[in-house]
Amino acid sequence: MNPEIKPHNPSNNHQGLEMYFSPKIVEKFAELEQNEKNLKVAQIVDTILLQESIGLKTPIYSAELGGGAHPDRYDAFFSKLINEGGHMDWVDVAPLMLELAKKYISNEKYQNRKQVLTFVKSEMLEYLRGIENEKLDLAIMKYTIDHVDHLEVLFELLSVKLTRGGKLIATIGSTSPELKSYSTNARFLYNGEQFPDNETRTLTDGDNFTVKFFKVSGDPTAGYLEGAETLKYYHSAEKIKRFAESFGFDIFLGDWKDFVPQENQKGETINQDVLVLTKK
Ligand SMILES: C[S@@+](CC[C@H](N)C(=O)[O-])C[C@H]1O[C@@H](n2cnc3c(N)ncnc32)[C@H](O)[C@@H]1O
Repeated sequence: MNPEIKPHNPSNNHQGLEMYFSPKIVEKFAELEQNEKNLKVAQIVDTILLQESIGLKTPIYSAELGGGAHPDRYDAFFSKLINEGGHMDWVDVAPLMLELAKKYISNEKYQNRKQVLTFVKSEMLEYLRGIENEKLDLAIMKYTIDHVDHLEVLFELLSVKLTRGGKLIATIGSTSPELKSYSTNARFLYNGEQFPDNETRTLTDGDNFTVKFFKVSGDPTAGYLEGAETLKYYHSAEKIKRFAESFGFDIFLGDWKDFVPQENQKGETINQDVLVLTKK
């Protein structure tokens, strides 16, 4: 066993995720996610999903790990799954997020997604443990990889559960160790502590940061969405690359524009770091 692998503690599953279990918060949070940046990032992931599907056998078996409230994204990839009889497990540990997910695709426009989607209430590592080996062609993690404390457990499971040539496509907050004090949607606390707006903190492996969401996206002066805060874990680029190598993956880690050819970027210029692992 890899010496860096630590045992997973199932009793600790919800630590730092309390906001996703709060009826008062989840609906507002899901509305907050209806912002331009979030939609653009989903489009970037959709583009990468399509690009990376080329060469995979069909039908594709995929899973979004920490799916959250918005299966109303990924238009191109869902069309592909629907046309080819593929599948997506929409996995989330929080029942309320899954209820919202169902609501967001309840109108006519999304009816045919139900043919290919299964909503799975599960902690994502438990989900991976429970599926057959070499079952998954594509795993998707949008805004969720930094919810995972022990990244080596995730990588080990993926190395067993992905098909050969199968992939993880994930967004990464940033490959830079610099933690800004705030972003469009939220303020960041360094190991639990707030720091001034004009400063940054340098993260190292083992650090965590708290994300406190603003009431109004893009407007810190409107204050915080009460109770909407979550704990995330920092993973350095060096560590991610080391794990990729030791668990047998090819890796891309960096800005999506260096991964998708320019003619497929559809004029989109935002920066977004992504991690793409391909099982060798
Ligand atoms: C920041 S939201 C992102 C949701 C979605 N991927 C998106 O991009 O809109 C994080 C989601 O991941 C879920 N989550 C966090 N940790 C998880 C875990 N260990 N297992 C399953 N779901 C998890 C939360 O319940 C929440 O719905």
